[in-house]
Amino acid sequence: MDNVETLRSEILDAVAGSSDLKALEDIRIAELGKKGRVSGLMKTLGKMEPEERKAAGQALNVLKSEIASAIDGRKGALEIEALNAQLINERIDVSLPVRPEDQGRIHPISQTIDEVVAIFGEMGFTVAEGPDIEEDWYNFSALNIPPEHPARQEHDTFYLPNEKEGHRMVLRTHTSPVQIRTMQNQKPPIRIIVPGRTYRCDYDATHSPMFHQVEGLVIDKKTHMGHLKGCLIDFCRAFFDMDDLPVKFRPSYFPFTEPSAEVDIGCTREGGEFKIGHGDDWLEILGSGMVNPQVLVNCGIDPEEYQGFAFGMGIERIAMLKYGIPDLRTFFESDLRWLRHYGFQSLQTPSMVGGLD
Ligand code: DAH
Repeated sequence: MDNVETLRSEILDAVAGSSDLKALEDIRIAELGKKGRVSGLMKTLGKMEPEERKAAGQALNVLKSEIASAIDGRKGALEIEALNAQLINERIDVSLPVRPEDQGRIHPISQTIDEVVAIFGEMGFTVAEGPDIEEDWYNFSALNIPPEHPARQEHDTFYLPNEKEGHRMVLRTHTSPVQIRTMQNQKPPIRIIVPGRTYRCDYDATHSPMFHQVEGLVIDKKTHMGHLKGCLIDFCRAFFDMDDLPVKFRPSYFPFTEPSAEVDIGCTREGGEFKIGHGDDWLEILGSGMVNPQVLVNCGIDPEEYQGFAFGMGIERIAMLKYGIPDLRTFFESDLRWLRHYGFQSLQTPSMVGGLD
């Protein structure tokens, strides 16, 4: 048993020098395990004289617990080292921006609707909605478009096979039926805009069988043409972000308004290049007019007491003009390269500049 001291320092040195948890476990098995060296010495105690056994037994027990606690201590230190190394290697910088390829884009239709809603929202309009599948009465008759009226043919309507009260249902050809639904359900004053999907059987660079419109309707006791003009001039200037954008009202005809006006904005077309703003040319962007008294009567509103104005425009059309998108069909082709080019980053607040002081 004279070599206990040598064994002790040999083992403790090995423990202190062990570089990982596996090496440490190997030491534990080699020294304290069933077939280990210290366990082997313990077995020799039985053959000793009682006096000698007592002293040796004590020394071996002390050695055992010293080794065990040295292993424990070293184990704790190695675990902390391993954790620190892991923390350094796996460091995450939470302040880094998200990888760009993970970012989606806002579709120009959604962006344009948001902008239109924001501008009219500032003027006190609220958003109304109605069904895409509409009754003939709401889409045509109540809007003063009687049966056989040429406007019905002009609209290239999609009819559904099922009938309701002798009329086939239609995919609404414009957002105007929501005017009727609102006037039936809401007492004036009314100030709504109606963004939504509309359908006509048409397909070329400026038409698609499904497209979007936004409708506007104001009904109050003293509403007049001056309000219509002020409201739409402000809208055009705010939407195209041009304080002095020329806006012109041109007499027109719609069955649901009287008088009616189409709204043109100033533009130039020089050398094949088209630009919105000052110039000697005009571009039509929306239809409008004072609500036809017959339409008010159809909705149970007394035209002697109330009057108002309405307007309607194509969302794709104004988006194409503002953002230079040449073909309307591309809005609906779901081409990601197109969306990455023409789409908008999220969290971009719609432009509110111009015309809305
Ligand atoms: N509904 C018309 C269309 O689809 C647009 C329109 C013109 C709506 C004049 C109106 C309006 O409310 O007053 O072409």
